[in-house]
Amino acid sequence: MQQKPKVAIIGAGFMGGAHTEALRRIGVEVHGLLGVDAEETAKATARFGIPKGYASFDEVCADADITAVHLCTPNYLHAAQAKAALQAGKHVLCEKPLATTSAEAAELVQLARQKNLAAAVNYSIRYYPMNQEARARIQSGMIGEPRILHAEYCQDWLFLPTDWNWRLEPQQGGELRVVGDIGTHVMDMLTWLTGLEITAVMADLTTFIPTRQRPKGEVETFSGKLQTAAETEAVSIHTEDFASILLRFNNGARGVITLSQVSAGRKNNFWWEINGSKASLAWRQEEPNEMWLGYREKPNELLLKDPALMQPEVRRYAAYPGGHAEGYPDTFARHFADFYAYIAAGDMQRKPPFPSFADGWRELLLCEAVQQSARQGGWVQVSG
Ligand SMILES: NC(=O)c1ccc[n+]([C@@H]2O[C@H](COP(=O)([O-])OP(=O)(O)OC[C@H]3O[C@@H](n4cnc5c(N)ncnc54)[C@H](O)[C@@H]3O)[C@@H](O)[C@H]2O)c1
Repeated sequence: MQQKPKVAIIGAGFMGGAHTEALRRIGVEVHGLLGVDAEETAKATARFGIPKGYASFDEVCADADITAVHLCTPNYLHAAQAKAALQAGKHVLCEKPLATTSAEAAELVQLARQKNLAAAVNYSIRYYPMNQEARARIQSGMIGEPRILHAEYCQDWLFLPTDWNWRLEPQQGGELRVVGDIGTHVMDMLTWLTGLEITAVMADLTTFIPTRQRPKGEVETFSGKLQTAAETEAVSIHTEDFASILLRFNNGARGVITLSQVSAGRKNNFWWEINGSKASLAWRQEEPNEMWLGYREKPNELLLKDPALMQPEVRRYAAYPGGHAEGYPDTFARHFADFYAYIAAGDMQRKPPFPSFADGWRELLLCEAVQQSARQGGWVQVSG
């Protein structure tokens, strides 16, 4: 009989808590946690009631009880931690982005395959039930050939020069900020929904707030908005607050996306719309239980999340009956359920149903093309 999986969570911030909660909801044991230091580890294990606190990442890798590691740390740590965990024979579920360069990500794809381990990147937005439904409808030809793909992801949590987070610093977040942090969710979504590939990009990036006030101390994600005046120091910012990117797809479709972390009033406003040769579909993260269907020959429709109205093959992604709203934490539970079912099935070479390390690698290739386009101006072909 197969052993029940036991998980170690690395990182005790926004995502450390979200992963812990979602794993428990699907009945997977969170066995241990590692924070940035002994104090954070002790506080987080006590807060979440996690049995074991680790003293180091080496100790996590050496723990024979651990089946899988969830990496919920700042971006610059992902590649090295994923590599060490895979080498120690652990399955890895890594937060996005998978690494800070495509070369690191390519190495991880190979290593996971070689070691015969499951390896996922948490592009969690795929797991809203209406996004699963949209994909099923697009893949079965309901909107015809996708032609125009539009999307926007705007937030306001870094709107003020006093707003601070590690993502602002390239050494921690990577050289691209809005593109790496939220743009990769968008590009992942458009390609996953349609099955298309992005072949070329043209990008315009800018930093509207070139100097920010950095608090002398750590700031957990999104908590900066609630912070009262603290001691700060002025720091020059080189990562982008805004990006606008034109896209070309391998079927000739065209796309345009707008990304920002300085749009007052927009909290986590990701929306996409796809216009096909027969019909259109649109979805918005802040109203995630609805999908808009657009037609030329009849009135438009609004589908409300209801498993009874969903395509049979994606019904399982709705955890509750119609009229019972599902949201952000549910997407983590549904993703992790796919991940652990895949591990339980035992064939690690089969195409995974979840966002894989190969998907994470492709996102980094796209990021590098975006960066090159923004620097030199003009279209850049995506390699890989
Ligand atoms: N999938 C999503 O929807 C989503 C949403 C938010 C963040 N993320 C990703 O999750 C990751 C974490 O982001 P967050 O918002 O939780 O950040 P956060 O700052 O809230 O938490 C990061 C945690 O990692 C800890 N940490 C730092 N260095 C460490 C080390 N060496 N060992 C162990 N712990 C360490 C920090 O102390 C903190 O507890 C990022 O890569 C981010 O891109 C994904």
